[in-house]
Amino acid sequence: DHAARIRDLLSRMTLAEKIGQMNQIAGGRQRALNSRLDAGMLDRVRRGEMGSFLHVAGAEALRRLQKIAVEESRLGIPLLFAMDVIHGYRTTLPVPLALAASWDTGLMEQAAALAASEAWAAGLHWTFTPMVDVARDPRWGRVVEGAGEDAYLGSRMAEAQVRGIEGPVSAKDAPLAKGHVLSCTKHFVGYGAVAGGRDYDSADVSERTLHEVYLPPFHAAMRAGSGSFMTAFNDVAGVPMTANEALVRGELRDRWGYQGLVVSDWNAIRELINHGVAATPAEAAALALRAGVDMDMASSTYADHLPSAVAADPSLVALIDQAVTRILTTKARLGLFDDPYRFGDAAAEKAPLARSKARDAAARSIVLLRNDGGVLPIRSGAKIALIGALADDAASALGSWRARGQVEDVVTLRRALPQATYDPGTDPEAAAKVAAAADVVLLAIGEDYDLTGEARSRSDLGLPGTQQALVDAVRAAGKPVVAILMGGRPLAIERALTGIPAVLETWLLGLESGPAIVEVLTGKVSPAGRLPIAMPRTTGQLPMSYAHVPTGRPANPDLSVDSARYHDLAIGPLFPFGHGLSYARFSYAPLTIERRGDATIVGVAVTNDGSMVADEVVQLYLRDPVASVARPVAELRGFTRLTLRPGERRVVRFTVSDAQVALWKAGKWVMEPGVIEVMVGSSSADIRARGRYTVAAGEGTMPAAS
Ligand code: IFM
Repeated sequence: DHAARIRDLLSRMTLAEKIGQMNQIAGGRQRALNSRLDAGMLDRVRRGEMGSFLHVAGAEALRRLQKIAVEESRLGIPLLFAMDVIHGYRTTLPVPLALAASWDTGLMEQAAALAASEAWAAGLHWTFTPMVDVARDPRWGRVVEGAGEDAYLGSRMAEAQVRGIEGPVSAKDAPLAKGHVLSCTKHFVGYGAVAGGRDYDSADVSERTLHEVYLPPFHAAMRAGSGSFMTAFNDVAGVPMTANEALVRGELRDRWGYQGLVVSDWNAIRELINHGVAATPAEAAALALRAGVDMDMASSTYADHLPSAVAADPSLVALIDQAVTRILTTKARLGLFDDPYRFGDAAAEKAPLARSKARDAAARSIVLLRNDGGVLPIRSGAKIALIGALADDAASALGSWRARGQVEDVVTLRRALPQATYDPGTDPEAAAKVAAAADVVLLAIGEDYDLTGEARSRSDLGLPGTQQALVDAVRAAGKPVVAILMGGRPLAIERALTGIPAVLETWLLGLESGPAIVEVLTGKVSPAGRLPIAMPRTTGQLPMSYAHVPTGRPANPDLSVDSARYHDLAIGPLFPFGHGLSYARFSYAPLTIERRGDATIVGVAVTNDGSMVADEVVQLYLRDPVASVARPVAELRGFTRLTLRPGERRVVRFTVSDAQVALWKAGKWVMEPGVIEVMVGSSSADIRARGRYTVAAGEGTMPAAS
């Protein structure tokens, strides 16, 4: 078995070889994979000074590299090859926030599995995904990489991604199935809570919010079998996560029982000096090791400074042994000791792109935000003007972290709609003339791909550049306008959207973005995506969440004083969490509520009253109206996306365990007795049926756990 083999190996390793296993080095840069694999680097592999490479890929190149480790290093320990394969490797799929907008966990799982299989073919063992950071402030540029503002939706999406990447949880010691790779759940924890949405800044979150909002998706990913975690760059309440012994070793390992590998983020061990918690690199290395960080990504601080840290404190050797055991166990779990070349297939690497899957994923991620007067779908034969540079921006369709996605492979909206008269919109007056000559105007606006992602925080979520002038000129042409929003985050553009009858959120949808948008515009597909994060009215409203707690002076539309609101702004977001329209209409029957043991079965019949086949996303929210601490006014605790034919009625049943309403208090989960309110509807602000039930006191568990 693995354990005996690893004990034996460990007993034969020198300290330098052990520390070598804990060292992960960049074999290239993100856009220039393998570019750093020079002779000096290969010699380090021969000397056993490397455990893993990141930013490498390619079946042949990685086979050659692995051969050096296995045949030319003293102990022949195979290397781990890692890369950020975030939303597709060659077949670029919608960005993660868009996939989350599908509210379709099956789709999310298939998307992750497709990305994993292409990564596998390229010889990769490990992908740094899923990013499960809850984000309630879209000023943070990395909001594009996660599942949005909600812990429950985020948890379900996290599990789906892990299942897709790693495949079904395998029997103990069985290697991952062919076509699957190791996932890396990141960034543990609180990265989405950085102050002001500024990337890399501090997060100061309460214990309750940490446990109820930020930790649950990590817990869900762990339970789904995620084989590795990455620590976050930020500090939480002053303790950098790279050195956070209480949360990494204490919470994750000891309390949750996590046994997988923990890797730092890029250079983060070294940056403990910048955080002001270590004076020297040796101190930084010791802090990270004590916290439970097994592998050093890219900073070489373990490789260069753990030896002197050990000289100063020999008790660190035991911690090094634990870290190396976890790294070797991970390699064993991947099957690399039995066959170091079992990943990678040069023929499969050249397989055709999975275009129809990419198109389906893209169409299912689109959210119809507004459709006044039924402007959409566009009637056939209408004269269409297509305006805006984003409609023809192939690079943007690929989003950030595009892996091997190629600009030439993208079908943009302009290419997918050759019958439209296209104008890039650089001259608003010229664009207005094109608009005036059409029956309907499609106006692509938003952010290009480079405005969201890592280190892409923005202080103003208005339309970048001169797009506002373009919107004003096109609107003044007096034709019905469909705003097609593109970008990796919700923007704060209430004013720009005023007077525009139809608004479609199309994110950054990948290779097949154009055809997918056309399917929705023409009514071939009824849109059913839902916002996984609210769209604010203004940037000054941020951060926000539908799941806020009530206050002593609740926001009141009739009161501008003594009311928790801004004087100068309507209450709430422009489009709420869970919002999304359809070309059909759905009616909801009253709820049925039945208690079964310590669970509640909530049933609701939903009918498609429209005239086309369409999907509806039925959402269940709970509220504990009176508790010892203020509880959120609503929390998502169930959802399902279903397809209904015209006139079809289906009963949806949600099973909600009592533990789902537990709250975090004084260091543990508790369930307080009393009434729980149930709300079922089409968005967090469109509740169609209500009910209530009673729960008894008891011990709770992490509420978002399935
Ligand atoms: O995986 C990423 C992480 O999300 C941000 N820093 C770099 C890592 C590796 O590229």
